[in-house]
Amino acid sequence: MTLFAHDDESYWMSTTGTTTYPRLTTDVEVDVAVVGAGIAGVCTAFQLARSGRSVALIEADRVVAGTTGYTTAKITVQHSLIYDRLRSSLGAATSELYARSQLDALAHVAALVDELGIDCDLERLPAYTYVTDEEGVPQIRAEVAAAVEAGLPATLVTGTGLPYEVAAAIRVDDQAQFHPRRFLLALVDDLAARGAQIFERTRVVGLDEGDPCRLTTETGSTVTAGHVVVATHYPVFDRAGLFARLKPHRELVVAAAIPAGADPGGMYLTTEGNTRSVRTAPLDGDDRLLIVTGESFTPGTGSVADRFDRLADWTRQRFPVGEPSYRWAAQDNDTTDGVPYVGRFHPGSRRVWVATGFGGWGMTNGVLAGRLLAARIHGEEPPWTDLYDPVRLHPKAEAGALLRNNLTVGKHFVGDRIRPPSHADSVADLAPGSGAVIRSKGRRCAVYRDPAGDLHAVSATCTHLGCLVAFNDAERSWDCPCHGSRFGVDGAVLHGPATRPLEAREVPDA
Ligand code: FES
Repeated sequence: MTLFAHDDESYWMSTTGTTTYPRLTTDVEVDVAVVGAGIAGVCTAFQLARSGRSVALIEADRVVAGTTGYTTAKITVQHSLIYDRLRSSLGAATSELYARSQLDALAHVAALVDELGIDCDLERLPAYTYVTDEEGVPQIRAEVAAAVEAGLPATLVTGTGLPYEVAAAIRVDDQAQFHPRRFLLALVDDLAARGAQIFERTRVVGLDEGDPCRLTTETGSTVTAGHVVVATHYPVFDRAGLFARLKPHRELVVAAAIPAGADPGGMYLTTEGNTRSVRTAPLDGDDRLLIVTGESFTPGTGSVADRFDRLADWTRQRFPVGEPSYRWAAQDNDTTDGVPYVGRFHPGSRRVWVATGFGGWGMTNGVLAGRLLAARIHGEEPPWTDLYDPVRLHPKAEAGALLRNNLTVGKHFVGDRIRPPSHADSVADLAPGSGAVIRSKGRRCAVYRDPAGDLHAVSATCTHLGCLVAFNDAERSWDCPCHGSRFGVDGAVLHGPATRPLEAREVPDA
């Protein structure tokens, strides 16, 4: 397997400094507590603080260092084949509303960059979704028609800046890309300057809905708030059956320097070949950084190392680049009807709000979520309130995905117990750098052998809802296939919805 200069660290993380906001150690009281400091949480807190609300922004790790720090960072309203899908399943009016809401988010990013003078490499470019196989052309034609009907300046093209032929593509001009951390850290600075309280390394573990609401943190400190926004990517609480209506997927990214003259000059996406997404970013000197994303998969399934190799091979075969210098991964959640859940946490909720299920389009959806949730907390109802309301249910449009999600979780919960996907009979079978689930004294242990040969054992039972974790052979973590929780080899939570670590276990005998 290839060695990377920046293994598991995104370009966005490696080119920005580390934040040092304090841990919450006392009880605090605010108008609004926002849990999770990715793009949705930061934008919600930002909108509220600007309107004079007192805000606490609480992050389990560091701000803008979770999924948002590992995104591809395209700010586009062109979301694969969404407009034809929405028009077919929910009607043309819904598709048009979706387009308007996404355009509003894109325009808001550009306006903020101007207003605050943020240096975040914002570039305006066309976005394309393309197919190389003639069989896919009718889908592209239908998407162009649906996007035009939704009010977007979409065109059908066969020529792109890519160094290979496409059979057809939808092109939407004047979309954008940027450096997401530079943009969001500027918003966080602005938030702090307005007196918002920002806490890092503070994991929220309890939510008491009331008037006011009360959040409890891992260390016992509490936050009392008139409203609570749960913006933890996958919600760390479930009050409305959202766990059954969200499906996690993970995608891999490789990035390499490319001569500026070979820059394809746009943002590209195809769902062929298990998804390939292409963009570039500025580098010092004459080169650009080519960023290729793909190999979508359910966390905790299959070899991640093999997928990274496939993605790097695909990139080298099509672009004039050498070995990628970065590789990283990002995770997102798909909803059952393709539209994010942004709004009331459950039907009776008046003070707790949620934003999740961005389906890989977190940049516009995160900004949209911030504006929509801030408006709703102020008692306003933007035109797209019902479209994104998590309480919606479209039985016809969602039934198939709901059934599939629950069958998948059931399959992992039961089937993985019979034969765990990353299973070994004995620790003697583990090579340095590898891990497997091993049965010991009637219990399943997740055992990892580090490069020095030392063994580390934790429980293999996910602390969220009890599925078995599997070893991720590229990122060296324990990943849960049911709802996407991820844990370090020491059991620490890397990614929710789990909030408790895997329990330590004795290393099984060889
Ligand atoms: Fe839900 Fe593991 S993430 S059971």
